[in-house]
Amino acid sequence: MEIFVVPTASATGSVAAGILAAVIRSKPDAVLGLATGGSPLPIYKALAGHSVDMSAVSGFALDEYVGLPAGHPESYAEVVRREVTERLQLDPAKVAVPDGSAADPEQAAADYDAAIAAAGGIDVQILGIGHNGHLAFNEPGSALDSRTRVEVLTERTRAANARYFSTPEEVPLRCITQGLGTIMEAGHLLLVVNGADKADILAAALNGPVTADCPASILQWHPHVTVVADEAAAALLAPASGQVPVRVAGAAATV
Ligand code: F6R
Repeated sequence: MEIFVVPTASATGSVAAGILAAVIRSKPDAVLGLATGGSPLPIYKALAGHSVDMSAVSGFALDEYVGLPAGHPESYAEVVRREVTERLQLDPAKVAVPDGSAADPEQAAADYDAAIAAAGGIDVQILGIGHNGHLAFNEPGSALDSRTRVEVLTERTRAANARYFSTPEEVPLRCITQGLGTIMEAGHLLLVVNGADKADILAAALNGPVTADCPASILQWHPHVTVVADEAAAALLAPASGQVPVRVAGAAATV
């Protein structure tokens, strides 16, 4: 595991985008795993500034709400379209999001898992972390070998995501999420974290025991993980063997 600590949230985007641009240059048809939420937005903004041809890149979103009407602005299909596909000029036909309005969401989830495998798997999976340690929407208690499936969102996650909706009640109760086992099959996991409110959970995930109580702790078992965190989020990380944070000075730093 490599950990880069940078001064600001914007710098997390610069560093992570530098990593992704290098991957796409060496593999123009790379398959990216696309996280939504606030943490990865600086990545997509920074990546748009790289002169790299992304026309052959494909993407799979990490998750989607179940039950929002098609075209709802806060559905992850719409967020991915706005923030990723259009910004990076990806081919919309190459970008997939779980079908949260499917008549049979469980089947849609299984089909999505199969589609990732059929695409040859994900080369780089972008990830954020929830305040409760969730990875994608794998809430605490999720099986470490879980596959893409329907999950019930915890009240903590619904409260955190209420900022995107007019009222907290509008936040859906369920989602389709890639499973922890699905995520672990990606070749490279790229976790971006910012803000003091994530410091406790980031330290628990990286320095604590691997446990379903903190789903993101499974990162410790993956052979290729890059963490890019701002100073505030990294404040409680213990320098442990093999996990010594590299402090990158300056917002324009790339690796
Ligand atoms: C989003 C996702 C979630 C978020 C996490 C952090 O696709 O799967 O796991 O990454 O909830 O969200 P932010 O970045 O908004 O704090």
